[in-house]
Amino acid sequence: MNKLTSDAFVFFGATGDLAFKKIFPSLQAMVKRGQLNVPVIGVARSAMDVDELRARARSSLEQSGKFDAAACEKLCDLLRYVRGDNSDPATFQALCRELNGAQRPTYYMAIPPSIFPGVVEQLDKSGCATGARVILEKPFGHDLASAQALNQTLSATFAEKDIYRIDHYLGKRQVNNTVFFRFANAFLEPFWNRHHIESVQITMAESFGVQGRGAFYDETGAIRDVIQNHLFQVLANLAMEPPVRNDSESIRDEKVKVLKAIPALAAGNLVRGQFRGYRSEKGVAPESRMETFAALRLEIDSCRWQGVPFLIRAGKCLPVTCTEIFIRLRQPPNIYMELNLTQNHFRIRISPDITVAFGLNVMAPLDEQAAVPAEVLGSHCPEAGEKDAYERVLGDAMAGDATLFARQDYVEEAWRIVDPALQAGTPVFDYEPNTWGPQEAASVTPPGGWHNPVMTENSLCKQTST
Ligand code: BG6
Repeated sequence: MNKLTSDAFVFFGATGDLAFKKIFPSLQAMVKRGQLNVPVIGVARSAMDVDELRARARSSLEQSGKFDAAACEKLCDLLRYVRGDNSDPATFQALCRELNGAQRPTYYMAIPPSIFPGVVEQLDKSGCATGARVILEKPFGHDLASAQALNQTLSATFAEKDIYRIDHYLGKRQVNNTVFFRFANAFLEPFWNRHHIESVQITMAESFGVQGRGAFYDETGAIRDVIQNHLFQVLANLAMEPPVRNDSESIRDEKVKVLKAIPALAAGNLVRGQFRGYRSEKGVAPESRMETFAALRLEIDSCRWQGVPFLIRAGKCLPVTCTEIFIRLRQPPNIYMELNLTQNHFRIRISPDITVAFGLNVMAPLDEQAAVPAEVLGSHCPEAGEKDAYERVLGDAMAGDATLFARQDYVEEAWRIVDPALQAGTPVFDYEPNTWGPQEAASVTPPGGWHNPVMTENSLCKQTST
């Protein structure tokens, strides 16, 4: 075994929702691929034994539709259970015994962030943290100050290189494909700058509401839930310079540089909305003004991007579920100016289908004096056997590859950008479900307008990856 590879996987919150929905299916997939063959230790307070945890794993796999008898049996063989309170030293003594001398365990915090500090402290005191890695889930704090405080807690015990901050968007092949698309296709480089690109827009539309997560969502809102993390990662992939080397730190350095070049979001460049009916959701305050929609405009003050608006829009209860990037090119002078040609574009869809399209003008079939817009398009659905986002990030953390994880300096820059606008308490406008947000969002619009994702037959991909 490679010395960087973890020799035990421990997950706190073993009986919780995250473990049920995401962790068990990912662990089974890793087993199936032959990438997991170390003890898998669940820790939780529930009064159950290891057989009951195995039964829970089985039912998670059945419900996810991913049950595989042989892989599930192997996973169950690897499973151990430590029952105990996260603040009780006895829990950690029992954990150390189960670890049985493991040199490089990975600890996954599938628990609320308020409990992290106690667990980290106990890991430290019990000696179980030596040589270990820790994985945690976004959001990393609630703002810059709380992100720094969280990091202080973690870094008292773990070195930055051993802290793996999951933003599951980074585990999506489609998201990484934006970087691959740019740097594996050299012909793009001459276009990829302020001279040719007029605006960049990123839309993350979800046609559903808060899906029973009202209490979480009402403390979080769209900006903290998906913009400050998932969509900033997409933006960084689009805007970064080519990394000097293809290693985790060179790549993460370039992403941080993008965020450093973005001035803080001005309150006037943000419009927030809330879908009608949100305040009746379970767990949501009856007077809540939390946003379920946000549209914002950012600038990147770099030689490549100065003056190019980057617009981000995300919302719940919009007409479709789709994440798409639309890059509008400037209109150069040409000999057909009287035809009112459509501006060229690149369209990159991240989900549900994976699409790269170039928007062009072609001669109209029935009127040679007219142009019609067309797209040169490559599109496919996620493959059935491909890794899903959680499998990818858990496997990478176990293998010690930090590329697909958020580094602390990146997290802090992301909060620096959104914090002032969040604190400004801008108005929240109501919108009807199944619309593209409040009308007021028109004040934050790219030149030429928003491109609303259109669903085609291919968009009906069965979601095989998260
Ligand atoms: C999560 C957010 O991080 O990402 C959810 O908390 C959101 O609100 C989800 O729906 C979207 O992820 P995916 O992989 O389903 O597009």
